[in-house]
Amino acid sequence: MQSGSMNQVTKAELDPRLETPVVILSCPDELSDFATPERQEEMRGIYAQPGVIVVDNVVGEPLLAGLREGLSDYRRKFKEKFNFGRPETESFKRAYDETTKRMTELTRMLFGYDLKGAGTMSYRPLITADEPLHYDTYDVPCGEISLMAVLNFDIRPRVWNVGPSFREICRDSAADIEEILKKKNPGESPSVPIRSAGLKGFGPLKAGTPLHHIEFAPGAVWYANPKTTSHQIVYGGGAHFQQWNIDVSDCACQACLFEALGVNVPNLRAPAPATPA
Ligand SMILES: [Fe+2]
Repeated sequence: MQSGSMNQVTKAELDPRLETPVVILSCPDELSDFATPERQEEMRGIYAQPGVIVVDNVVGEPLLAGLREGLSDYRRKFKEKFNFGRPETESFKRAYDETTKRMTELTRMLFGYDLKGAGTMSYRPLITADEPLHYDTYDVPCGEISLMAVLNFDIRPRVWNVGPSFREICRDSAADIEEILKKKNPGESPSVPIRSAGLKGFGPLKAGTPLHHIEFAPGAVWYANPKTTSHQIVYGGGAHFQQWNIDVSDCACQACLFEALGVNVPNLRAPAPATPA
């Protein structure tokens, strides 16, 4: 194994039919060099668009080696949970704590948010491959945006395809979406039927949809809103996730986009019925 995974760079092939920007930055020696009001405003705008923001070489070899102590060859089945535990060694714990601090600090500097802490963390030392193209299904309250940071700590690049944004599908495939969601139940995430339809060859995420192809380098951290950026993991090993909910004045959640673009969806904001006791 060659030791030179430092200074690997992320590669992206962009499909010109898609609007989603992919911005690739290199990490400065001092994270505070990112922290100008102009850049922070620009980064917030790109993230909300939605776009993908990549920073290469955020985490260096010593910390990556510590995080890799937990790596497994286990291949995750679609929808399976990520509860894989974490190693108990001092070297792992140190790497994990320092990485978490660094990702949090990078996020503060890049976006200028007053983050209270490290957010919701998820250490995923297993293999994910060949996902269907999808928007994530977890719930984010209207008026907030999910800010997701991902570190690739694997020895190989993490490979994503990125398809149309939620705004693009609402604008370009409204009739298909209305058909797919005409029986949507209260509390059900629209992401689920849209993903299922795509797998069956129907709607905006079906095979043949334009795709950006991105190979995130080991040590890179990137930001993408998985609720409004359609994505599929083509291949990925170890990755660490941090996620924050940020209050936004100009909401562009799935429900707000349906309303703004005139897509009629039943039970759009109705919560799931309480389960009878
Ligand atoms: Fe996802």
